[in-house]
Amino acid sequence: MASEITYAEVKFKDPLPSEEAKAPKEKSPPQHEPCKPPQWLLWLISGLLLLLCVVLLVVFFVVPHQQNCEEHKALPQNISEWLCAVRIAEEEERVWTCCPKGWKLFRTSCYYLSHDTARPWDASEKNCIGMGSHLVVVDTEAEQNFLLNWVKGRVSDQKEISNYCLGLNSQEVEGQWCWVDGTLYNKSAAFWMPEEPNFLNSEKCAVMQMGGNRASSEKKTWNNVRCSLWCHGICEAAAMKI
Ligand SMILES: *[C@@H]1O[C@H](CO)[C@@H](O)[C@H](O)[C@H]1NC(C)=O
Ligand SMILES: *[C@@H]1O[C@H](CO)[C@@H](O)[C@H](O)[C@H]1NC(C)=O
Repeated sequence: MASEITYAEVKFKDPLPSEEAKAPKEKSPPQHEPCKPPQWLLWLISGLLLLLCVVLLVVFFVVPHQQNCEEHKALPQNISEWLCAVRIAEEEERVWTCCPKGWKLFRTSCYYLSHDTARPWDASEKNCIGMGSHLVVVDTEAEQNFLLNWVKGRVSDQKEISNYCLGLNSQEVEGQWCWVDGTLYNKSAAFWMPEEPNFLNSEKCAVMQMGGNRASSEKKTWNNVRCSLWCHGICEAAAMKI
């Protein structure tokens, strides 16, 4: 009986070490798996690369665009909408030029007409400055023609005289005409009405005089007036190029 029990105990003990030895062999494959990159790590790396691409896109495309906007501080700051037009510049290059909504684009400038409000000349210039612009500086015949046609279309009563402030005055030195933006006054590109400017000691601000039964083809519309006379401001700012 005792020997059988001993035999049984031995026989029972024998398989145990072999099972213990087998066990690590069965468990070994899962222990080898961490050596290969797991699926989640591949996804993490892909995700990080995608994030890097997004960051590079922002750095190269969004940031330069913002800097581009800052270059044009001359334009009004509070702009809800821009209107843009494509223009063929030199060498057939296409240039997009933009003006704030409510402003009119001509060549490389934007213009705003204070049609409903007239002010003394100084207040008109201040109003333009408040919108990031200045009173209009007319230095070519093309610009004069553009302004004439544009303003004429806004004047309801052609018989009544209405004055539009130009960015031209002689308040510093009597008889010496100066543009508000420092552009040199060019006598050959000035459009004074016949016998103007006159009364130089008292009339030191320039306006574009519309209406008053003048011939509609008449290009010479400038008049010098007292600076206290109220005029409708025409503001000008450089158009934004994109
Ligand atoms: C910007 O303009 C809008 C409408 O043109 C006006 O209601 C708003 O008060 C302006 N905001 C500032 C900060 O001037
Ligand atoms: C002055 O205006 C005339 C006529 O438009 C032009 O031919 C001339 O080049 C201008 N002079 C200057 C210095 O801008």
